[in-house]
Amino acid sequence: MLIVRWTIYLCLACGGCGVRADADVENSHYTTGLPNRDGIGKFYMGREISHVMGHLGAGWLERPERERQERTDLLIAGLGLSEDFVVADIGAGTGYFTFPVAQRVPRGKVFSVDIQPEMLARIARRKALKNVTNVETVLGAEDDPKLPDNEIDLAFIVDAYHEFSFPREMGERLKESLKPGGQLVLVEYRAEDPRVPIKRLHKMSEVQVKQEMAAIGLDWVRTESYLPQQHVLTFQKPRAQP
Ligand SMILES: C[S@@+](CC[C@H](N)C(=O)[O-])C[C@H]1O[C@@H](n2cnc3c(N)ncnc32)[C@H](O)[C@@H]1O
Repeated sequence: MLIVRWTIYLCLACGGCGVRADADVENSHYTTGLPNRDGIGKFYMGREISHVMGHLGAGWLERPERERQERTDLLIAGLGLSEDFVVADIGAGTGYFTFPVAQRVPRGKVFSVDIQPEMLARIARRKALKNVTNVETVLGAEDDPKLPDNEIDLAFIVDAYHEFSFPREMGERLKESLKPGGQLVLVEYRAEDPRVPIKRLHKMSEVQVKQEMAAIGLDWVRTESYLPQQHVLTFQKPRAQP
C-alpha cells in the first residue's frame, strides 16, 4: 500500500501512470489521480472507480430488450437459490433482480440495498403494488451496505461493484453480513472482451475482481461465462473465521 506523508507524490508503483496520492488518502487503500471521463479520479488496486449511474438512468436498467441482451433469466436461474435463502441484492437499482429473486425464496427474504433513495422508492412502490412481503429495502451508505451480521446466505452484485466509491469497506462489511460459508456472486461486464459495448470503467477483468476479493479474505469458488457479456464470479466466506 502507498503511504504518503505530506503533499502530492507520483504513484510509487510506476511513476508514470498519472496516479497520485495525497494527504487526504494517507493510510487509506486508495490513491487519487486525474479522472478519466467516466471515472471519479479515485483508484483502488490500480483500478479507477467509475461514476455512479444516477437514478435518471433507471429506464436503461428496465429496458425490455435487457433479458435477451444479457440473458438475465439465465443469471437468475444460475444463482442456485433455495426457497429459504436470505439474499442481499447490493446496488439493487430499480429492483430488476430483486423481484424475480424474491419469488424464488418464498420462505426467505431479499434485502434490496442501494445508496440512492430514488431507486429505493421505486422498489418500495413496486413492492406495494404487487403485495410482495419478502423484500426489505435498505438505504446503504457509500462504505456500508447496512446489513445485519452473519445473516446472508447469498449476496449478489450486478453491474454495480465497479462504481462503489469505497469498495474495500463495502467488501469488508459485506463479508461480515454473510453467514460462514455464505456466498457472494459478482457480475460485471467482461473487460477482457473488446466486443462488449460498454465503457471501459464500467467493465472489470476477472483478475481484478479476484484480487479485490482476495484482499478482503473471500475465497474464490468459480468463474462462469455462460452470459453473453458478463462474467459471473462466485466467492465464499470461509466457514471457520481466523
Ligand atoms: C448500474 S446500476 C445496477 C442496478 C442493478 N444491479 C441492475 O443490474 O439492474 C448500479 C447501482 O448501484 C448503486 N450503488 C452505487 N454505489 C453503491 C454503494 N456503495 N452501495 C449500494 N449501492 C450502490 C447505484 O446507486 C445504482 O443504483
